[in-house]
Order: sequence, then structure tokens, then C-alpha cells
Amino acid sequence: MNDCVPEPERAWTIGTAPGIFPSLSHGIALFRRPLAFLNSLPARGDLVEIRLGPRRAWMVCHPGLVHHMLRDTRTFDKGGPQYERLRAVMGDGVVTCPHAEHRRQRRLLQPTFRPSHVAAHTDRMAEEAAALCRDWRPGQRVDVSAAMLGLTTRLISRVLLSDSLAPAAAEEVRHCLAAIVRGLFVRTVVPVDALFRLPTPANRRYRRAVERVRELIDAAVAERRRGAPRDDLLGLLLAAEEEGGRAAVSGREVHDQLVSLLLTGSESPSMCLASAFGLLARHPEAERRLHAEVDAVLAGRPPGTDDLPRLAYTRAVLVETLRHSPPGWLFTRVTTRDTTLAGHRLPRGTTVLYSPYLLHHDAASFPEPGRFLPERWLRDGAEAGPHGALIPFAAGSRKCIGDLFSMAEMTVALATVAGRWRLRHLPGPVAPPRPGATLGPRALTMICAPRTDAPGGEPPRAAALAPAAPVAAPGPEHPRRDGDDGVHHA
Ligand code: HEM
Repeated sequence: MNDCVPEPERAWTIGTAPGIFPSLSHGIALFRRPLAFLNSLPARGDLVEIRLGPRRAWMVCHPGLVHHMLRDTRTFDKGGPQYERLRAVMGDGVVTCPHAEHRRQRRLLQPTFRPSHVAAHTDRMAEEAAALCRDWRPGQRVDVSAAMLGLTTRLISRVLLSDSLAPAAAEEVRHCLAAIVRGLFVRTVVPVDALFRLPTPANRRYRRAVERVRELIDAAVAERRRGAPRDDLLGLLLAAEEEGGRAAVSGREVHDQLVSLLLTGSESPSMCLASAFGLLARHPEAERRLHAEVDAVLAGRPPGTDDLPRLAYTRAVLVETLRHSPPGWLFTRVTTRDTTLAGHRLPRGTTVLYSPYLLHHDAASFPEPGRFLPERWLRDGAEAGPHGALIPFAAGSRKCIGDLFSMAEMTVALATVAGRWRLRHLPGPVAPPRPGATLGPRALTMICAPRTDAPGGEPPRAAALAPAAPVAAPGPEHPRRDGDDGVHHA
């Protein structure tokens, strides 16, 4: 992580967001037009007051202040409406646990996400990616969002549970996840509990989805307890449970860690991949460069670990997708003691928010931030982004544990599909992605066109290609300042 600190001598500006609605307040703006609302805030100050329902909250708009907050995890702890809701789903696993619990949990889980462990999964990633597009037919319409979520759910459940989660159960997790992600977002931006206790169909769907994921995980754990030990994350947790002592893991924690890692490990990479295919179809020059690289490096064979560093443009496409449309776009924290930020006093219990999307669309850090330009990331040392403004995986001790894993799986998946297929938008305008708990296309259907120019490519049997449809990228309306930190290498 980059040590970007707020300059003490800088005259920070404190502001208030415009247009406070009675009772539901900025939650409505965040729900209806979240990206435009976020982009309007930096013009109001480095630290901007907003209202989430009855709550007063502060959006941190300067990268230096965001890094300060992400480094001081004791003061700015996981909390606020988002993490309060997430705790109801994930318990006190590594994603949601308070600072006091975090170091022990992170140490326990970290070995599974080390580079050598990630590398050991590359062949599996390549097999799954090849299987995903093997049966596509020229002209076929593919639900790209569902296909990518299916892929990433299978890959992460393999790391966590080997084959203890049957294909049908993994498919159910995928369905539940869609309901959970939708429900979490509205509960975050409109944190009025009474609304979510009402017996509406949406509330029932959300509760049922949360219960069902719990049941599926419990069934997988129970089956493993009856069977032989395996070398996966569940095996590691059960061994720690048996060992006892200071690093003891309870049965409850085994469950919470698995739910936490399964949900976070499937949703975000699938969103990034779907966004990347959507963006590539609208940027033929980037797509052409990607195909040229994949053909030159792989020549029609599946990618292996040694190929990943040579797929520099493929990686640049993903990094630019993470900048342009970061799946994790809005997060909350709570102050655990009275403190100051940007010279402003924040009492204990204050809700503070940060947004990778907001920082990534700062025109001072990323000129023409609404444009999709993978070339930004081809220069040596470019990946940190200017002044730490690139934070798709966050920073500090609560930085994403799955950054290496997801960069590897996404590189393999993108290279594999791009080696065989062009994905085209359906005719007509493409709707910009609507943010939920994550940002990305939730229902992206595209048309498959075989790459006849690829090594080993065959002529299409039934091509019915739709033209690429232009769409207004959800870009920011307000140019802004700079900041630093980056995306780690696969
Ligand atoms: C494109 C893919 C991904 C993106 C963009 C992403 C993004 C993020 C971000 C921004 C955070 C910090 C949240 C905050 O500050 O509140 C985070 C945390 C986390 N992510 Fe990811 N993530 C991705 C993939 C994964 C994968 C594959 C896993 C594997 C299980 C994973 C597991 C986690 C965990 C466990 C945390 C909490 C870490 C801690 O508090 O110690 N993520 N992720």
C-alpha cells in the first residue's frame, strides 16, 4: 500500500451535500442516481456531510483522507449501515469483524490467498473458463452476467470447499446472491429498519436468500465433518477448530468465514468480467489489441501461470475496468472514538463513507475519467495510479484478501473467452449499469460471434451478429483532484 498521508498544512474544505429530502434524505439520491450524486460531492468539499435516513454521515472525497482513514482501522472500524446489514448475513467473519478480532482472522485465512496457492489454481481456472464458452454457438444470446457469476462461484467454492458444494448448490448460491446484493444496497442507503420488517415480497425474498445460503453452507460443513479431511479452506478452519488454544475457531466462525468468502469471492470478480465484456464491445480498438495479444501469447492454447505476466494488455483491460466501473464502489465505516478528519471533529459513532468510484472518476488523477482507456496502465509503474487514487481493492490492513486470486481468475477468463469469441451488444441502446451493493451489469445479454481470425478459429455456422451499440458511459460530471495506491499483480 502506498503511504499517502493527508498534508497537515493543507486547508481542507468541509461541505454539505445539496437537497436533503425529509426523512429519507440523500439515500434517495444515492438509490436513484448514485453515480451522478457521488460525482457532485467533491465540488462541495474534501469531507462532505450527507444524510442517510435519519443519520448524519460524512463522505470522504479526497484520496489522502481516504488513505488516512483506511490506515487507521482502530478509529475507523468496519461499521455504519452497510456493515451493520452485512453482519446479519456474514456474522463476524473476516469481512465484517471489528478491528479487535481482525488480525487473528486475517492471519488464519491469508495462506489460502498467497501467490503460490493462487498459482496452483490457474489450471482449474483455465479449464472452467474453457468449459464456460465451449458450447456457445455463433449468433447465440448469452446471459453474460449469469455466466460470469456461475464461473466465479464455481472457482471460489473450489478454493473454499473443494467439491463439497454440489453444482446444483453452487447454482442456488448464485441465485441467492442476486437477491442479497439488491437487498443490501437499499438497506445501506435507506437505513430505516422498520421498512425492511414489512412483509413485502422483496423483503421476503431477501430474508429467504440469506437463510438459504446459510443452509447450503451448513450442509456442506456437516457433510465434511462426516467425511475425510481435505486440503482447502474448510479443511484449514476445521483443523484450527480441533487444535483449540489461542487461535481457536468456533463452529459459528467456520460458518461465518465460509459465507463471507463465498459471497465476496464470487460477486465482485463476476461484475468486473461482465463490465469488461460490455466495455470491450463498445471499444473495438481495445478489443482488437486484446485479441492480438491473446493470439500472440497463447496461440490457441489455454493460459497457464507463466503466461499471466505476458498478458499485459489483458491485464490493462481489467485494471481499466476496475477503475472505470469498480465493483466495490461504496463502503461505510464507523468511528470508535472521538477523532478529527480534515480538521473536522467527528464524535465516536459517526458514520463515514468512501467510494472507489468517486476517486476513480477524478479528472485530475485520471484525465477523461469517463473514457475507457486500457492504455493508461501500460506505462511502467502506472498501476499505482496517481497519488493513490486507484483503490479497487481498497488499501491498508482491510484491503481485499482476494486481490491476487481475482486478478488471476479474471485474466484467465478474459483471455480464454477473447481467444475464441467476440461478444456483441444486442441492437439498441445499452443501459448503463445500476449500482447495487456492487457496481456492474446485473443482466447483460450479449451475442456470440466466433473469432475466425484467431489461431484455430473456424468459420461461423450461424452468425447473426448485431452491431455494437453506442452507450453513454456513466462518467462523472465534475473534474476533480488527485490522490495514490494500486492494483496488485496476478
Ligand atoms: C474484482 C474482484 C474484487 C474486488 C474489486 C474486491 C474489492 C474489495 C474491496 C474494495 C474490499 C474492501 C472493502 C472495505 O473497505 O470495506 C474488499 C475486501 C475483501 N474482499 Fe474483495 N474484491 C474482489 C474479489 C475478492 C475475492 C475473489 C475474494 C475471495 C474470497 C475477496 C474477499 C474479500 C475479503 C475477505 C475482504 C475483507 C478483507 C478484510 O477485511 O481483511 N474479494 N474487496
